[in-house]
Amino acid sequence: MKIVVLAGGLSTERDVSINSASKVCKALREKGHQAVILDIFLGHGKTGDSLEGIFEGDPQLTQMSDTIQSVDPDLEAVKAMRTENPDCLFGPNVIEICRMADIVYMGLHGAEGENGKVQAAFDVLGIRYTGSGYLGSAMAMDKGVAKKMFQAAGIPTPKGFTVKKGEKDSVKRVVSEFGFPCVVKPCCGGSSVGVSFAENEAQYQDALELAFRYEDEVVVEECIHGREFSAGVVAGEALPVIEIIPKTGFYDYKTKYQAGMAEDVCPAELSEALTKEMQGYALDVYRELKLEVYGRIDFLLNEKNEMYCLEANTLPGMTPTSLLPQEALAVGVDYGTLCEKIIQEALK
Ligand code: DAL
Ligand code: MG
Repeated sequence: MKIVVLAGGLSTERDVSINSASKVCKALREKGHQAVILDIFLGHGKTGDSLEGIFEGDPQLTQMSDTIQSVDPDLEAVKAMRTENPDCLFGPNVIEICRMADIVYMGLHGAEGENGKVQAAFDVLGIRYTGSGYLGSAMAMDKGVAKKMFQAAGIPTPKGFTVKKGEKDSVKRVVSEFGFPCVVKPCCGGSSVGVSFAENEAQYQDALELAFRYEDEVVVEECIHGREFSAGVVAGEALPVIEIIPKTGFYDYKTKYQAGMAEDVCPAELSEALTKEMQGYALDVYRELKLEVYGRIDFLLNEKNEMYCLEANTLPGMTPTSLLPQEALAVGVDYGTLCEKIIQEALK
């Protein structure tokens, strides 16, 4: 099969995407497919280096390139492709190349790419792609919209609300609705970029300032203390649940992508009843948010064994050691087979 693995994009998870996509491409080639990576960052007149300037001064982002490079020995080869490849973001080359493929594997993460816009464009152009359609992608990407959907469907989720840039006095809502500590997240971010915790009003203002560097809308949530889990769904079926035990206490960008910073346990050490409950909620989320092909839903579990759904990832990380591939492996589906299954399911 001819497969274009779409990678890069302009989001804060650009490097994560290139990491996932390079592994997917390699696995699909090993399965005998003609797979190519297409980086849609190019053509904007920017190089990888100047990307850092866009988010200047953010400590989380300045670490990004080093962190990714240290875990991915193949990345240099992929980076070299960037300079040789003159394609432009949705310019004629990208569209022509995607049209030549039997299917586009969506190797993008975050913002444009995961938020439904590329999916909608491909629908209009008649280009087939993996993963959720435009509506599911858009609803899942916006943590404020997703939270309202969870609440309406009776799926437990931390209390919270959205705040627009310039809105005053949101701290009053924090105090009256759940109090400190609270969590502040960019509404449509990923990989914990721009996320921080606040113990008091001064920290809350700093947390808002950081999150507003990325977007004009943020989500503020009650802080749930407990264990972190994730539950994948492939082709409408729940995979085993995985527990993430970060060594630093918070599963932030560095912990997510630097080897040895978190321990993943799969299947999670969780009673059968709790496992079934979490998988049930994951399937509810998959249905309510109109997800397709695959997705990964993140949860917290407090000391009273009450679970809270945090978010749905429509294009979850796909390196062989990412969470969803580990869950698939726990039921005997190896990485290459998983990548191929995603393609087959999308073509149904
Ligand atoms: N947003 C990252 C890629 C994930 O969910 O795995
Ligand atoms: Mg996410």
